[in-house]
Amino acid sequence: KPDPNWVRSDDFHASFLIPKDDALERSLKYSDENGLPEINVHAGQGKLLHLLARSIGAKRILEVGTLGGYSTIWFARAVPEDGQVITCELKENFAEVARNNFEYAGVANKVKVLVGPAAETLQTLPSDEKFDFAFIDADKASNLTYFLQAKRLVRRGGIIIVDNVIRNGTVANPDIDDENVRGVRNLLAHIKEDKEVDATTIGTVSEKGYDGFLYALYL
Ligand code: DHB
Ligand code: MG
Repeated sequence: KPDPNWVRSDDFHASFLIPKDDALERSLKYSDENGLPEINVHAGQGKLLHLLARSIGAKRILEVGTLGGYSTIWFARAVPEDGQVITCELKENFAEVARNNFEYAGVANKVKVLVGPAAETLQTLPSDEKFDFAFIDADKASNLTYFLQAKRLVRRGGIIIVDNVIRNGTVANPDIDDENVRGVRNLLAHIKEDKEVDATTIGTVSEKGYDGFLYALYL
């Protein structure tokens, strides 16, 4: 049930700032055709992630939660030819759709998909090959697990961004207590005490409603 006011607003801003893009549009269409849920970041957020990665000259980017690879394509286009995006996806059929999208977008050479529970695949990555940027957008219950793995793998001065930390305000609503909001609250409680990161939540609004990114700088 997209809100038409925000559909129009997203489309309006995108018409000035985000050129129509065959490969990105195709990735969403192909994902939809293959039954993946439409829970990708929206175009404005994808471009923000892309610009942030370029702003810090990121060469290696870690993503948790590939889905159909829409945000992954934005990231892959932000890194240089010899850069890499490593993205973790639980489901083999989602990973297959994403790989197909990377081929079509011409970024397959820069992207590696690790299939399986990210809590396990992340542990296989060596901490001496640091990432500049991590984006966490997978099962919300495991946010803190993924954040701690991201800290192990991201360089000092790097960025860790976590999606869906507002959830239409439910994270702050004491009457709501499900595994998703608990996953976000656990992360916030951790960061409050973690002297190695400085962070903020920035709210976003789109046709999908009100949500937000948590932006953390690894000091
Ligand atoms: C859901 C997950 C997401 O990452 C998102 O951005 C929106 C919704 C979900 O699981 O419903
Ligand atoms: Mg998300």
